[in-house]
Amino acid sequence: VLTSKNTKRHSRIELVRGRGATLWDAHGVSYLDFSCSYGPIVLGYANEEVNAAARAQIERGALFPWATSQVDELSALVCANMPRATECLFFKTGSEAVAAGARLARAATGRQTIVRCGFHGWHDGVISPFYHWHDADGIAEGREIPGVAGHSTRDWIVWDGRSVAGLDQILAAHDGGIAALIVDPVQFREPIGEAIAACSNTIRRAGGLFILDEVKTAFRVGPGGIQKKYGVSADLSIVSKALGNGFPIAGVVCTNELERFAATAKIKGTYNSDLVSIAAATATLKLLESRNVAARLQQIGSTLIAGFNDLAHEVGVEDRVRAMPFRWDCMPHVTFAGDEGRARSERFASDLLERGIVWLANHMNYISMAHTEADVARFLDACRSVLRGAVTGR
Ligand SMILES: Cc1ncc(COP(=O)(O)O)c(C=O)c1O
Repeated sequence: VLTSKNTKRHSRIELVRGRGATLWDAHGVSYLDFSCSYGPIVLGYANEEVNAAARAQIERGALFPWATSQVDELSALVCANMPRATECLFFKTGSEAVAAGARLARAATGRQTIVRCGFHGWHDGVISPFYHWHDADGIAEGREIPGVAGHSTRDWIVWDGRSVAGLDQILAAHDGGIAALIVDPVQFREPIGEAIAACSNTIRRAGGLFILDEVKTAFRVGPGGIQKKYGVSADLSIVSKALGNGFPIAGVVCTNELERFAATAKIKGTYNSDLVSIAAATATLKLLESRNVAARLQQIGSTLIAGFNDLAHEVGVEDRVRAMPFRWDCMPHVTFAGDEGRARSERFASDLLERGIVWLANHMNYISMAHTEADVARFLDACRSVLRGAVTGR
């Protein structure tokens, strides 16, 4: 079973190559992949144009002592579709960008506490207590993570995202002390646009900044992420994953007024303007811009979801398992009912893996531009043979 990416060996399968929507193991066995490596792969594995841009940059030099105009070019491309954005500060990972965004918000407001909603990476302030944020029907009880220093979580408050009244209560209890609200938009239910507008108005009324963590959604749900799609805007946005099509890059998107706090807040990093990832991300964004990516990903995702639910009906298990968009069809999710739901999901993924399909258990999966209708048909075919066993556990 696939577990965490960070465990040393997360699967008994040794992957050696990827192209498009396919991965190969050391024995030459191929796998149709729907993990997209937890989201970054948006164009497909080993995209030719992205790789060519990265290779050319490797030849010229991976890193220089100060940022070049390529960094400005990418910053302009990122900001082009984001409302109010004028600057993007670059980092290597989403966790790092979240930490920088939080520091920037504290520096700009002179306040300490940040309210968080959703998964924001693994750094101390945001990992403990740990919740199963990606459960389709709610979040489980939080649990403390060993090794996290108690003081580092003191200035973070968890909001479950269910009601703005709940957020209001938190803000009232910390009158004038909240620097920002950071949310992962996948936590919101429909109508998502209204939920985002309501909580952004609420935090701004309280004098705090609104941070949208678009690590999963930017460049995938739409070119301007959630903000363009729903006509909302954030003071700071965190982007990563699809930005680099697998190359490590993340960004804090903000305005000049906020960016000027970066220097005094010591927001820096040796590899922040690593030019290989900058080149790869620039190529990725140009390719994304030239294709109607969001519509295509939605279309393939909705075909997969509808096909799965028809199949569940045909097999007579539709009351115990369903496919659903994890808010958007481009992030399909299969969820099993009941107390055994998480175990059933793992069995389902492990049975699919035996049939050459990589599917993430208890997590949203992702569609890339490399997926085709034929891939969806192959996935459904494999589901047909594993569904009953996964649902009954026999
Ligand atoms: C919304 C969100 N924020 C932050 C992160 C952390 O990103 P990284 O794993 O690159 O540190 C993730 C990772 O999945 C994420 O989904």
